[in-house]
Amino acid sequence: MDLEPAIAELFEAAVAAQTNAHCPYSEYPVGAAILTPSGAVYAGCNVENASYPEGTCAESGAIAAMVAAGERTIVDIVTVTGGDTPGTPCGGCRQRIREFARPDTRIHAMTTAGVALISTIAGLLPDSFGPEHLGHPI
Ligand code: THU
Repeated sequence: MDLEPAIAELFEAAVAAQTNAHCPYSEYPVGAAILTPSGAVYAGCNVENASYPEGTCAESGAIAAMVAAGERTIVDIVTVTGGDTPGTPCGGCRQRIREFARPDTRIHAMTTAGVALISTIAGLLPDSFGPEHLGHPI
């Protein structure tokens, strides 16, 4: 795997989080890690529970950690899933990423073996709704 150093660090953090995923129902562990402009890395994993729809995605956990630490901008986000094909962020997570993404934010959907699909929010969520549509400053 030939990753730029920042992405290698995110991949490592996402894999570490993925190993802690609580997913006894889907048996589909996901890890996510975010790089912010400060250089900090925030990770998350999916956390399921017996009330199936109430589980949370890995991206949600990573975004919550970023916001709780006082940061608001995603420079890169790496997600890690098993299987041969990267599992790209679900629709809800695309909107969650959208809130904190810049046009040049890279979204790296990767497998544990390093297969990567790299996209932007415009690619994953075209014509998206965002804070600017609300018509008041946030
Ligand atoms: N999952 C994520 O963590 N992120 C996504 O973007 C897609 C799906 C989780 C939710 C659930 O725990 C499991 O993967 C199967 O859907």
